[in-house]
Amino acid sequence: KRVAVLISGGGSNMLALLRSMEGAHPARPVLVASNDPAAAGLKRAAELGVPVAAVDHRPFRGDRAAFEAALLEPILAAEPDILCLAGFMRVLTPAFVARFEGRMLNIHPSLLPKYQGLHTHQRALEAGDAEAGCTVHEVTAALDDGPILGQARVPILPGDKAETLAARVLTREHALYPAVLRRFAAGDRTPLLLD
Ligand code: GRF
Repeated sequence: KRVAVLISGGGSNMLALLRSMEGAHPARPVLVASNDPAAAGLKRAAELGVPVAAVDHRPFRGDRAAFEAALLEPILAAEPDILCLAGFMRVLTPAFVARFEGRMLNIHPSLLPKYQGLHTHQRALEAGDAEAGCTVHEVTAALDDGPILGQARVPILPGDKAETLAARVLTREHALYPAVLRRFAAGDRTPLLLD
């Protein structure tokens, strides 16, 4: 299976995915694309020999459809079977999602369906939750709402701040996303619940 990864920033999840596909694996990376030409992840992907592309979303202002038409060019040229959103911070239109429905994944830093949207760790702390975590889900038109493919949980510890909790969750993201992608690429969609 051919995998394209979309990023907006450092791409630590993208790196974890690329590294997981280095050995024997049902998938291989064919593109890393970003909405930010300065995304540090692009350089890291290029260093691993993966083709990269960047389409700056800013010149398109609020015209999401025009931005997505530009972003689709390198994506379609790479002919991916699976799209992985990994720290990709742009909301995609239903039209874009429809093109990849059933084969587009995202990682979200909360135990969905709790805390869709942003600032998930701060919200979990403010709610006094005992645990937090991350979710890999299929992307549908509704934000952070598609079928869950995997989750990993972490304890919220006394004295945790959003930053310390985010770091603890991020480590689990790097284990969860590659494990889910490996199964998904092999055609297995049974949810994976890491310990
Ligand atoms: C992570 O918290 C991830 O859950 C969210 O974006 C953040 C940064 O991810 N989707 P990355 O380091 O760019 O992969």
